[in-house]
Amino acid sequence: MIPRAAIEEILFRADIVDTISSYVTLKRAGSNFGGLCPFHSEKTPSFTVFPGTRSFYCFGCGAGGDVITFVMRAENLDYPSAVEFLAQRVGITIDHEDKNATGALVNRKRVYEMNLEAAKFFRQCLFDPALGEPGMQYFRSRGLSSTVIKRFGLGYAPSDFGLLTRHMLSKGFGEEELVTGFLCGKSQKTGRAYDYFRGRVMFPIIDTTGNVIAFGGRVLDDSKPKYLNSSDTPGFKKSRNLFALNYAKDECSEQMILCEGYMDVIALHAAGFGNAVATLGTAITGEQARIMAKYTKKVIISYDSDEAGQRAANRAMQLLGEVGLDVRVLKMHGAKDPDEYIRKFGADRFRHLLGQSKTGFEYKMENILAKYNITAPDEKIKASGELCNIIASVPSAAEREVYIGRASSALSITSDALKSDVERQRRKLIREQRKNESREALNTAKNYGDRVNTDAVKNVAANSAEETILGLILTYEEHREAIASGKIPLCAEDFFTDLGKRIFEAVMELHNNNEPFDPAYLGERFTPKEIGRITKYKIDRGQLTQNGADVLQGAVEKLKSEKMREEEKKGGDKFASLRRKQQLARDLKNKNSNS
Ligand code: UTP
Ligand code: MN
Repeated sequence: MIPRAAIEEILFRADIVDTISSYVTLKRAGSNFGGLCPFHSEKTPSFTVFPGTRSFYCFGCGAGGDVITFVMRAENLDYPSAVEFLAQRVGITIDHEDKNATGALVNRKRVYEMNLEAAKFFRQCLFDPALGEPGMQYFRSRGLSSTVIKRFGLGYAPSDFGLLTRHMLSKGFGEEELVTGFLCGKSQKTGRAYDYFRGRVMFPIIDTTGNVIAFGGRVLDDSKPKYLNSSDTPGFKKSRNLFALNYAKDECSEQMILCEGYMDVIALHAAGFGNAVATLGTAITGEQARIMAKYTKKVIISYDSDEAGQRAANRAMQLLGEVGLDVRVLKMHGAKDPDEYIRKFGADRFRHLLGQSKTGFEYKMENILAKYNITAPDEKIKASGELCNIIASVPSAAEREVYIGRASSALSITSDALKSDVERQRRKLIREQRKNESREALNTAKNYGDRVNTDAVKNVAANSAEETILGLILTYEEHREAIASGKIPLCAEDFFTDLGKRIFEAVMELHNNNEPFDPAYLGERFTPKEIGRITKYKIDRGQLTQNGADVLQGAVEKLKSEKMREEEKKGGDKFASLRRKQQLARDLKNKNSNS
């Protein structure tokens, strides 16, 4: 939970036009500002900043919200981190607190302090001959020098259930916090905290601002699980961080190497490739891809050479391509991963491999050629079909031509023949795309495919009434008050969609708390996409001239009658329509006697 006062202070100090200007070139358009949307690719600007309401909205992709939502999306941060980010920019300090799974309050800063202390402790243990011998021996066996060990802050957690816990308690950390930070487990029998990492070499995970956010711990033998990792904590989300990005970020403006394992990254850095990173024990996520795109232009995927690694490379290729990165794939022979490769063949050979890394197309072509025996005519035809399919999906004609040339010599089929196949395939693809687009347009009109408000499609009329109501109460105090005072009878249960209901509840709660109202306070309770939708409701109202009590009244009545109709349908009640008319008459009478 972040104190309301802190958010207010940030909204006041972090001017939305200034803040967004450092990401987007904005041009004044009347009282607003326009620019190219940073959240989807477009050639004509549909991204608008409204200084008056301290909000932004993209009419193209529906991204919208306040300055905090903007930073969440632009910097890939969760809500508390975005607030922290802005706080640092405008020079205020906030002491926000998060709730852990058991409801205990944990301070994010406290988690970082705790991890830093633990990292120091693990390192001391490693360098203490009486405690750290097994760990040190293990690292040596894997060829790590003291310099590298120190650079990565590596450590050792001895095989003991209480060593770290006792140390941390002596430093003033509580058992509950240690459990929340995943440094300790909690004994089911005694309820006491015990060391989570035991008999493992320790890899601290450090974010780009230097905080120790988590740990990975590896066993020294073949026992399972090979690596234990901290679970997500208030300071750490696996899907939003990369191992060694704290170092790689300064050396990767041209290209970055993406590996699977911690040890691969360390071996690469030790061999002079300081631009290597790894995901944290999980497959790469879209968030990680976007983070990489912030730091570099080109990513060379250097996954394990086994089948699982190659499958993962396919997925990574897609995700990295989607964020506009130039993607290459490195293929290794004679070693299972980059760490082993460098140990066996040296850094120079690896550098050579980097230079030979393949583009997505080449990689796919090689895989297809390896799959078929192209000396047999039928298999050659299949291979040619698959290749033409891939080439047809490439948007650039020049690029298609290059690939056709390659395929032609690989298959020894003339370029002309391949070209006509590719173009036919491409026309088919474009026809399908058009069909999909017009279907999509039709569906949008009927709220089909709405991923933010998934209930909307079930009752378009009710949803439209909800949007009117929400737009009005988000914008006008008098309408909030009319509902709060009961002058216009409306409650959360009247809402049809879950999203509408949640927004209504949140808005009315803010209103009833008698606090200054700003949709920005909703940021903590809604996803950035939902905030975009909320912004749209406000903007839609802002563009209309009729926003009076009669409009609200009309929408409320419409919503209620739609709601009743739905209920009848469910109940199959034959007197329902009569009762509905009676109810509406009563509501109307109440309204008249109230006003
Ligand atoms: P690998 O099994 O390829 O391990 O897992 P590695 O990195 O080559 O490790 P070494 O060389 O045997 O020491 C790749 C990555 O997957 C995650 C870790 O992040 C590891 O670095 N992983 C693997 C886990 O999180 N848990 C596991 O049990 C295994
Ligand atoms: Mn390995």
